[in-house]
Amino acid sequence: MIALRVAGTGSFLPEREITNEDLSRTLDTSDEWIRSRTGIQRRYVLGPHDPPADMGVAAAQAALDRAGLPPDALDLLIVATNVPEEIIPGTAPFIAEGLGLPHEPPFFDIKAGCAGFVFGVAVAGAMMENGLADNALVVGIEALSRFVDWEDRKTCVLFGDGAGAVVLQKENGDRGILGISIHGDATKRDLLRIPAGGVRLPASPETVKNKKHFLEMKGRGVYQSAVQMMERATVEAAQRAGISLSDIDWLLPHQANLRIIEALVKRLGFPRERVLVNIERVANTSTASIPILLDEAVRDGMIREGHILALTAFGAGACYGTVILRW
Ligand code: ACO
Repeated sequence: MIALRVAGTGSFLPEREITNEDLSRTLDTSDEWIRSRTGIQRRYVLGPHDPPADMGVAAAQAALDRAGLPPDALDLLIVATNVPEEIIPGTAPFIAEGLGLPHEPPFFDIKAGCAGFVFGVAVAGAMMENGLADNALVVGIEALSRFVDWEDRKTCVLFGDGAGAVVLQKENGDRGILGISIHGDATKRDLLRIPAGGVRLPASPETVKNKKHFLEMKGRGVYQSAVQMMERATVEAAQRAGISLSDIDWLLPHQANLRIIEALVKRLGFPRERVLVNIERVANTSTASIPILLDEAVRDGMIREGHILALTAFGAGACYGTVILRW
C-alpha cells in the first residue's frame, strides 16, 4: 500500500470535432462500420497549427487548480506520451515550461504505449513511497492525429487527441495505491508501431514516400492480446491489493475499442454498470484515455471518497498493467 491521495484531476480535449459521418465523406467507411466495430461515434482532433503540449498544460493546470496546489509545490512531473513534442527532449520540458516551474523539479517522459499513464502513476507512487516526492503530477497526452494516415481507414478512424492529468499528494491514511501489476511482452513488439523517424530507420525521402512515419497496427492481434493482458494485470493487481474483483467500485479500462472493453468485462465477470466508458465521444486517446475518463467521472460526482478504482491499460510494446487505488 502506498498512502497518497489523488488531490486533483484535469483534462483537455481540442475544439475540433470529427464525426464518423465526416470521415465517411473522404474515406471508404461508414458510421455503421465504425460504430459497430469500435463503439466510436466521434473524436476531437488538434488543428494543424495547435501546439500539442498546450493540451497537457491545460489538463495539468486544471488538476493543480482542483488540488488547490500552486505549480511551485510540485516536486515531480511525469509525462506519458507515445509521440513526443520533439524526439529530443521529449514532451515533459514543454509542459514544465508551460506551467512555469522555476524551482526545477525533476521531469521526464514515459513511453509505454497506451499503458503509459498507468505506468506513470505506478512510477510516481513508487518514488513517493521512497521519499523522492510529496506532490507529483502525472500527465497523459497524445496527438496521434499527427501520426495517422488519414487515407488509411483501418487506423485513422480509431484515434482522437487529448490530455489528462492527476495530482498525487502524499498523506498518511488508508487512501492510495493498493496494488500494482505492470508487464511488458516484447514478442508483441510489432503489433503497433511507427517504423521510421527513430534511429533504426531515420527519416529519409524514401521513408516519407513509403508512408513509414504513420502508425501501423495489426488490429486482430491487438484485439486478442489486449483482452488477455488487461485481464491478467487486473487479476494480479487485485491479488496484490488483497481484494477480490467484486470489491472494485469502478473499472476504468483504456478506451481502445468498446468490443475489447466488453470482452474484458465478460472474462473478468465484472458488472458492466461499474465500467466507465467514454470512447463513443473521444475515441482512443492513447495515454490520455484513462486520465480523461477519470477526470470526467470525478467531475460527474461518480467517484467518491473510499471508492476502489482499477485503472487498466495495454499498448505498444506490448506494455500493459493495472493500478488499483482507494479514493
Ligand atoms: N471502414 C470500413 N471498412 C473497414 C474499416 C473501416 N474504417 N477498417 C477496416 N475495414 C475493412 C478492412 O479493409 C477489411 O476489408 P477486406 O476484408 O475487404 O480486406 C475488413 O474491414 C475487415 O478488416 P479487419 O481489420 O479484419 O477488421 P476487424 O473486424 O478486425 O476490425 C478493428 C478492425 C476494429 C481495428 C479491430 O481489429 C480492432 O478493434 N482491433 C483492435 C484495435 C485497437 O484497439 N487498436 C487500438 C490501438 S492502440 C492502443 O490503444 C494500444
